Amino acid sequence: MAGRQLLMNFPVTANSHTLAEYRARGGYTAIAKALREMKPQQITQEVVAAGLQGRGGASFPTGRKWQVVVPGDGQPHYLIANADEGEPGTFKDRWILENAPHLLVEGMLLTAYALDARHCFIYIRGEFDLPYRRIAGAVEEAYAARWLGEQIAGSGFSCDLIVYRGAGAYVAGEASGLISSLEGKKGYPRNRPPRLTVRGLYQRPTVVNNVESLANVTGIIRDGAAAFRAVGTEKSPGTRLISVSGHVNRPGVYEVELGFPWRRFIDEDCGGVLGGRAIKAVVPGGISSKVLTGAEIALLALSHEALWDVNSTLGSGGMIVIAEGTCMVHLLQIMLRFYHHESCGQCTPCRHGTGWMHRIVDRIVAGEGRPEDIERLYYVAKYNDGTTICGLGDAAGFAAAGILDKFRDEFEYCIEHKRSRYEGRIECLRS
Ligand SMILES: Cc1cc2nc3c(=O)[nH]c(=O)nc-3n(C[C@H](O)[C@H](O)[C@H](O)COP(=O)(O)O)c2cc1C
Repeated sequence: MAGRQLLMNFPVTANSHTLAEYRARGGYTAIAKALREMKPQQITQEVVAAGLQGRGGASFPTGRKWQVVVPGDGQPHYLIANADEGEPGTFKDRWILENAPHLLVEGMLLTAYALDARHCFIYIRGEFDLPYRRIAGAVEEAYAARWLGEQIAGSGFSCDLIVYRGAGAYVAGEASGLISSLEGKKGYPRNRPPRLTVRGLYQRPTVVNNVESLANVTGIIRDGAAAFRAVGTEKSPGTRLISVSGHVNRPGVYEVELGFPWRRFIDEDCGGVLGGRAIKAVVPGGISSKVLTGAEIALLALSHEALWDVNSTLGSGGMIVIAEGTCMVHLLQIMLRFYHHESCGQCTPCRHGTGWMHRIVDRIVAGEGRPEDIERLYYVAKYNDGTTICGLGDAAGFAAAGILDKFRDEFEYCIEHKRSRYEGRIECLRS
């Protein structure tokens, strides 16, 4: 079942965010066990064995990222939870922060112990209110109960955790931009190498992981890698939190076993499409993942490998369902407005490319499109690909090329008839 709470095993109640209830559910036993029985390297080995892939967008293997940091090498190490959650369509980290903040705190403690990190940060999106209050409250409770601070649970391990509020820039969710922002500078991404695990925050080895990735660590250490792998597929172990918005009857956040059939998830768990209409398209993992057609998702499983096979990605787990009758030209216009607005402007291809694509689609929507506009859009999209410091420029190009590849006829119609095939109508993307 897709909607079942599997790995998180965390039914939401009025008090599920509190330490008392978290403890009553067995919370903080994983860190107590780890401090008693495990060496830091064993935690990392367990996470490598579990095959956990990052839940923030790139799906990079979490344990492998940690292996670059060498505990006890004589320099400070830092751990940062990425709670910026700026990718349009994505609101699953928010679910953890609001309902299960101690799951994240415990996951961070385990990770900090594995990495020999004395200081940890949660970089949280500035617009978040309740999530901020809940995670700040959880950190306060954890300090009061001595799960944070000096010599945790009577061990030699000490750890401080600071919650830092961002100022609302999408690009500051990119790991190196996040670090710049945390250091008090503009949230500009920077070129790699050196990797952040070699030279990150304050020029020291730093691991940046997504909130959901870190929350998963708690279950992996509590129940073991084999239990984690018992769910999901060989190449995509575990579950994913999927935030669902758009034209479905039951939008929301679902924990889905990886490998679950996509169409069944939409029909059974999300209550099907509004008004019983056909699925025209699905944005599978935030708008930076390439759009799929209804026909494509009918045959797909919800797993990393299935998405890679069709040249897309599960990305940040932000799924937007688009019903038949929606104008894809308008949809691309909205996406490009976002990228144009959020480009930090450091790299010429992104600074100009996002604006250029946005203006072209603006004029197509306004009925002033030119026959050469489609090829020009492709040209700019390609020109952005791989030529920028961070992935924002690439993502804008993917969004444009992805929609053009599959819905080119709508753009041609719009240019020829000077209006949308759907009379400019885009259904409210309810969430
Ligand atoms: C423009 C941009 C925005 C990003 N925003 C986020 C974000 O809000 N949250 C997040 O976890 N990762 C975001 N990422 C991905 C991070 O750079 C990084 O890969 C991720 O936090 C690593 O965590 P993970 O390995 O656990 O997935 C973004 C990347 C780009 C290029």
